[in-house]
Amino acid sequence: MRGPIRITAGSDGLLDELSGLWVRITEAGGALGFDRGDPEAAVRGAARAVVDGLGSPDHYLFVVFDESGVRGFAHFRRGHRPVRRHTAELEWLGVHPGLQGTGWGTRLLEHGLAALAKDGVEAVFLRTRSGTGLGGFYRAHGFTERGRWPRAVRFADGGYRDEVWFTKDLP
Ligand SMILES: CC(C)(COP(=O)(O)OP(=O)(O)OC[C@H]1O[C@@H](n2cnc3c(N)ncnc32)[C@H](O)[C@@H]1OP(=O)(O)O)[C@@H](O)C(=O)NCCC(=O)NCCS
Repeated sequence: MRGPIRITAGSDGLLDELSGLWVRITEAGGALGFDRGDPEAAVRGAARAVVDGLGSPDHYLFVVFDESGVRGFAHFRRGHRPVRRHTAELEWLGVHPGLQGTGWGTRLLEHGLAALAKDGVEAVFLRTRSGTGLGGFYRAHGFTERGRWPRAVRFADGGYRDEVWFTKDLP
């Protein structure tokens, strides 16, 4: 495994690798904006939005990879309005299910936060869903819970989760 590296230009190959990984993570129960069984085309649309944004310096995509391609990614987006230039959102963070728990998510997150801080970003926010244990992961990385929207996430099986908001000030 190698990386994290920052990707600044999109390609069809990147889109294929990213959307394939995104589907794998989703089907394993990962909280990447979708539910198990959601149409692959919808997941690919989210991956396409990431790849299409790469022309902008305000989009930060970091990946880890091996000989079979992209195995993990973090996508941050810096605020574009003047009053939000000092902030960024962590939009997506995902690692291949076979590699979760081996430190790659931490490396992607910390590498991204350091790059944003270097570019003058002072604070990062993110939204995640309850019931996943992810709050513990983000708290361990210095994020603070700022609020939650009860039942904002609804699954096909009728279950609900809260959307939970976190922020972290960068050094
Ligand atoms: C969340 C994610 C990116 C973390 O990356 P990772 O490489 O698996 O995590 P790391 O190996 O760097 O860190 C492991 C630590 O985080 C904790 N952790 C990671 N994911 C967790 C989860 N879903 N629930 C509980 N704890 C979790 C582990 O317990 C471990 O803690 P420890 O070091 O004290 O033992 C990865 O698990 C993932 O892709 N999950 C599915 C997609 C997803 O839910 N993304 C988050 C969107 S907000």
